[in-house]
Amino acid sequence: MEIIIRPTAAEASSLAARIIAKHLREKPKSVLGLATGGTPLPLYRTLIAMDLDWSEVITFNLDEYIGLPREHPQTYHSFMWENLFRHTNIRPENVHIPDGNAADIPAHCAEYEERIRNAGGIDIQLLGIGTDGHIGFNEPTSSLASRTRIKTLTRQTCADNARFFGSEEKVPKHVITMGIGTIMEARMNLLLAFGENKAAAIAGAVEGPISSINPASILQMHPVAKACIDDAAASALERANYFRWVHDNKPDWQKI
Ligand code: GLP
Repeated sequence: MEIIIRPTAAEASSLAARIIAKHLREKPKSVLGLATGGTPLPLYRTLIAMDLDWSEVITFNLDEYIGLPREHPQTYHSFMWENLFRHTNIRPENVHIPDGNAADIPAHCAEYEERIRNAGGIDIQLLGIGTDGHIGFNEPTSSLASRTRIKTLTRQTCADNARFFGSEEKVPKHVITMGIGTIMEARMNLLLAFGENKAAAIAGAVEGPISSINPASILQMHPVAKACIDDAAASALERANYFRWVHDNKPDWQKI
């Protein structure tokens, strides 16, 4: 895994935005895997300000809550349209977000996988990380080979996400998420993590053993996984200074 540590979330997000923008300019028909949560917001704002051409871009979101009406402000459908898509020229038919109201969830999940395959696979998958190391909604002990499916959230994730719903009881307990096997098939994985509350999860993912206890640790097995993190999220890494040294000494062309 390539660990890029910047002093602030804004600087780490700006670097991630440049990685994505470069890709979109080189390949207008890029397939992007997108994430929600507080973490990608500065990145999405930066991408919007770059005024890129999204007319041929295809997107697949990682996950969605089950059972909320689609227009509920806390669905990932609402989140994505509000925070990114409506500010771009993306075509609505090119946007894919799991349907948390699908009548047949297993069939919907299988179809979601098929759509990713039919689009040619994901070029860049953006990821946040939960405080327990989850990626997408693949909670600890998720199969490292899992595919898109229904998951039940842990108490910790419900508590972490209560801030968006007003109380923990209102957080849906079930979700649809791309599997870890699905995420691992993306050609590049780009993980973002900011703040001290992510430091333990990042240390486990980067320097710990590969284990389903910290699902993000599987990225150690990915050929092109980059983590753009701020100083606070890097604060529990034993090798933080080594990662800074490596980044500072890269040839310019290799920095993005
Ligand atoms: C949710 C999402 C994840 C996200 C995580 C962290 O559980 N399903 O994709 O990475 O929360 O959220 P935040 O970025 O708000 O800390």
